Amino acid sequence: MYLCVCRAVRESEVDYAIDQGCRTFKDISDQTGCSKECGQCAQAVKGYIEQRFESSVGGVTLRLVG
Ligand code: FES
Repeated sequence: MYLCVCRAVRESEVDYAIDQGCRTFKDISDQTGCSKECGQCAQAVKGYIEQRFESSVGGVTLRLVG
């Protein structure tokens, strides 16, 4: 499913960015290009990132920054 239509960024690309070490919305936006145009996807992307971090491995809850 696309999180960002303008840049055709899928959930899997955000997952990959997180797996590569991105820990902030800005990091993920810079790596994937999401939210770089109209910005209407920003809340959906942030929500997805938070969901990913809150279900992180090992019971450690990470918080979205930025
Ligand atoms: S939908 Fe992501 S920048 Fe427009």
